[in-house]
Order: sequence, then structure tokens, then C-alpha cells
Amino acid sequence: MMNENIPKHVAIIMDGNGRWAKEKGMKRSEGHKEGGKTLELLSRYAKKRGIKVLSVYAFSTDNFKRSQEEVDFLMDLFINYFKNKLDKVCKDGIKVVFSGRKNLLRKDVIDAMEEISAKTKDNQECILNICLNYGGQEEIVDASLKISDDIKSGLLLEKDLNRDTFYHYLYQDLPPIDLLIRTGKEHRLSNFMLYQAFYAEIYFVDTYFPDFKEQELDEALEYYKSRDRRFGGIKTN
Ligand code: FPP
Repeated sequence: MMNENIPKHVAIIMDGNGRWAKEKGMKRSEGHKEGGKTLELLSRYAKKRGIKVLSVYAFSTDNFKRSQEEVDFLMDLFINYFKNKLDKVCKDGIKVVFSGRKNLLRKDVIDAMEEISAKTKDNQECILNICLNYGGQEEIVDASLKISDDIKSGLLLEKDLNRDTFYHYLYQDLPPIDLLIRTGKEHRLSNFMLYQAFYAEIYFVDTYFPDFKEQELDEALEYYKSRDRRFGGIKTN
């Protein structure tokens, strides 16, 4: 029963950290800190439920428009998480990969990202794909540039490019998203994994991300189970 109709790839738009904190009379940064704790337990729980890939939206290319203080706080939080949770993540058998552009990121952030990716690269049980300085349209543009290079140099033949082979040119070659969750009341995609979400079941939930824990993920998985996924075909039974 455990693995019955479990989505292979779950993606989460982790929204509502700021409002969670504000409603409690705390600073926005406290909400991000709490969100970090939630992410830690969710990644472990996702693995336990048999989810193979968990993608999370940690920082969008547009998040640089926030105050310098908030951007710095988030970057420090990321470094702290990558360094201090490293042993735990390794022990849990989780492989950490990143999606996004490296430009505009501080060197200490890039170093911490590279360290955790290198140390977890042989882990097989579950992939945690952290989207950082990420934009979905940017990813498609960047993939197109790589494709153009490969066609010019003869590494790729035009006839071999199709919607499946296109995945090899994205930041990470991951399976399509089966279940896309957005916490925190908004109903939009916000430039998140546009290519991979093409047939995703979408689950919007009012809960702010810091409160989206094991039980809330279970509820999202129940919702997924109840969906009838036909991928554009018709039901045959
Ligand atoms: C959106 O909430 C959240 C973010 C921009 C940051 C997400 C970061 C974390 C969950 C921290 C942990 C992540 C890692 C990778 C360690 P918001 O600030 O937009 O909230 P609001 O809409 O209520 O203002």
C-alpha cells in the first residue's frame, strides 16, 4: 500500500514564509528559518514515502528584487543549510542537485552548493533538486542556446531533437513533474519548471510553507491518488 500510486517527481513552490512570520508578529526572516526546518523534514519524509525526486523553489531570478537585507539573509540561510545539514543529508541517502543560473550568486553560496552536490553525488535513494536563482523561461532559453551550440558543432542532429530529448538540455535531466504543490494561498506558477510541469497535477493549498509538514504532504498525495491521469488520451476501462 505504501508505494501505491506515489508520484515519482513532486515539486513545491514554497510560498508564505513571510506571511507566516508576520501573522505571528515576527520578522520575515524568522519565517524563512522555519521554512528551512520544514524543508529538512519534508525531504526526509518524501524519501520515506517513495518519492524519487523532490524539486523546491528556493529563490527565483526575480527574488533579487527584494531588499538587500532579505536577499543576504536568504543566501546566508542557504549556506548554513548546505554546510550544517550535509552529514544528515548524506546519511539519509539524498542526492542534492541545483537548477538555476550561477551568475549573480555570491562565491560563498556557489562554493557551498558545489560542496553539497559533490559530497552527495553518489546517493541513489532520492534526489532533492533545489531551484536557486531559477527561472523557468530562463531555463528554456538556456537549453535552447546549448541546443544551438550542439547543432552547430554536429553533436546533435536536428532530427534527434524532440520533446523527450529536450530534457537533456535542461539544468537537470529529471523526469516530468507528476504533482506540483503551491503553498500560501496564491494560484500561479511564477515561472517555476514550466517545461517539466506540462502534465503535472496541480495542488494549491492555503497553508503557509512553514506549516506544510508530513501530514500536509500526505493530504497532497491523497489528492494525487484521486486524480485520473489520461495524458490527453481517453479512459479505456
Ligand atoms: C517564499 O515565501 C519563500 C522564499 C522566497 C524562500 C524559500 C526559502 C526557504 C523555504 C528556506 C529554506 C530553503 C533552503 C534551500 C534551505 P515569501 O517570502 O514569498 O513569503 P510571503 O509570500 O508570505 O511574503
